[in-house]
Amino acid sequence: MRVKHWLIVTVVALALWLLSGYQMSWLAAPDKALWQVASFPIGVGCDPSLLEQRPGYRQVIKTEYNSVTPETEQKWVSIHPEPNRYSFTKADYLVNWAVANGKRVHGHTLLWHQPDALPKWLKEFKGDRAAWEKVMKTHIETVVGHYKGKVKSWDVVNEALNDDGTLRMANHHANPSIENDNGSIWARNLGSDYIARAFQYAHAADPKALLFYNEYGQDTQPLRVAAITKMVADFKRRKIPIDGLGLQFHLDLNATEERITRAISSAEKTGLLVHISELDVLVSNWKKNPDLVYSPELQKQQGAKYKFIAQEYQRLVPKKQRYGITHWNVGDGDSWITNWMKLKDWPLLFDDKYQRKKVYYDYREGLKSIK
Ligand code: G3I
Repeated sequence: MRVKHWLIVTVVALALWLLSGYQMSWLAAPDKALWQVASFPIGVGCDPSLLEQRPGYRQVIKTEYNSVTPETEQKWVSIHPEPNRYSFTKADYLVNWAVANGKRVHGHTLLWHQPDALPKWLKEFKGDRAAWEKVMKTHIETVVGHYKGKVKSWDVVNEALNDDGTLRMANHHANPSIENDNGSIWARNLGSDYIARAFQYAHAADPKALLFYNEYGQDTQPLRVAAITKMVADFKRRKIPIDGLGLQFHLDLNATEERITRAISSAEKTGLLVHISELDVLVSNWKKNPDLVYSPELQKQQGAKYKFIAQEYQRLVPKKQRYGITHWNVGDGDSWITNWMKLKDWPLLFDDKYQRKKVYYDYREGLKSIK
């Protein structure tokens, strides 16, 4: 009788656990990794310190991804901390590890306005247009030159446009201070055509590198999309070297299929390479909610979103234009959403112990080639 009792308890417990949607990797370790299932590169934005310090983090990247993007170490604040000093050590660790492990490296990013990503000396730099041009040109030549032959592609310029498609320029905050400058130090000091020149300098520094314009909000801001399309056409006409567009795709559960389709399609129509460059899918929908629970229903909606993105990318983007899908960090606990945005959320494919989540399998299903 006692054995029967325990048997029933065990079966019920196992059933409840499985129904909870929590799948431990040993239950369903897939035969193929994400990058092996997909017909295009599957990348991850990652932190070299975590790569070095955390075996679980490293193992997931080694197994599941075939492309890496440095999350912050190639930004000015990390790589160019003083006017005449570059600091390549951290980014080199990631790039060299990636090359040694047969991973593609996508460089990120040569020019971004975000104050957090800029060193103090630059935010306080005083100079005329020629002086600023020299600062920008020298940085791009030095960094791209340093990684020539190792970094396959670059986000040359990131987030240069406002929601309404105008060029990010002035600081629109009520109390403008450089620390919350949502304008662009680059546009203000280099003029509106700095983007084209940045691409030219990057191309001159490594003619083989593929050059991308990276942006967010393509699914919600049609005016920004129109401005990107216009810029690409202008660059093509002027023979400014540009190879691809990055759609960051920091999405939430409210991102409709129609908006996702429209965003991917707008990039495909330019004829350039299309890189979904920083994918995560928030279940908090950007709302601070300390009581939020990662319920089976939220997991189901999130999994459907990941699956749709994987399938729609294949349906809309011809193979020759597929630069791939890159996820923005590995486990939920490493995400900028939980750390930088301080939201209670579970936006990624792996949990904070680097175990595959239920949404991993939904996404993987979507990656299976549909054509
Ligand atoms: O490494 C330092 C650490 O030593 C220090 O103690 C700590 C506290 O200040 O800061 C740490 O640096 C932080 C860095 O992330 C590494 O974790 C910076 O403060 C923080 O500003 C930085 O945030 C990054 C942010 O870009 C700004 O560079 C996020 O991790 C990163 O995910 C985020 O990524 C951006 C993309 O580059 C562009 N698209 C949007 C995306 C999300 O904002």
